[in-house]
Amino acid sequence: MSEKISVLIEEDVVDKRIRELGEQISKDYEGKEVVLVSILRGSIFFTCELAKRITVPVYLDFISVSSYGMDTESSGVVKVIKDLDDSIRDKHVIVVEDIIDTGRTLNYLLGTLKARGPASLKLCAMLDKPDRRVVDVDIDYRGFEIPDKFIVGYGLDYAQKYRNLPYIGIIEFE
Ligand code: IMP
Ligand code: MG
Repeated sequence: MSEKISVLIEEDVVDKRIRELGEQISKDYEGKEVVLVSILRGSIFFTCELAKRITVPVYLDFISVSSYGMDTESSGVVKVIKDLDDSIRDKHVIVVEDIIDTGRTLNYLLGTLKARGPASLKLCAMLDKPDRRVVDVDIDYRGFEIPDKFIVGYGLDYAQKYRNLPYIGIIEFE
């Protein structure tokens, strides 16, 4: 079975949109500092580009989660593999995620982080696949709404491959 990748969103379009999100966040958080909580591994490319476009002081922290159950769909039972290094108590936190699919991972994670007492907690997602949503998640900052296709590139993987593609692509198997 061979893998075919086609471009869904060109690199310059993604970069422009991230710039806009950065400007919006900079405006909304004027006079404050923000902690970007990046979800490993898929969100790293998006996090770096976004962080560069934010003009208020930015702190970066990383969390890694894995979901139990089937490979193709998250089960909602989420295990923290690597926790944040620093406390988020009384901090303004934005969770940065690559894609919201069923919403289960973020639903769990936002609940966990909220319990740690941040001053505020928001979600910024590069991609939103609303057709697949099982659990409601409020996306405060959204890059693009996309169709129900399997996405690779700009951090997103298929079997750990293709994260480094500079554009957002659709993978198909033939
Ligand atoms: P959710 O809990 O179903 O929303 O799962 C979201 C996670 O599943 C994302 O953080 C990705 O790691 C992964 N995921 C969902 N859809 C895709 C996709 O199209 N390509 C690559 N990874 C995906
Ligand atoms: Mg992910």
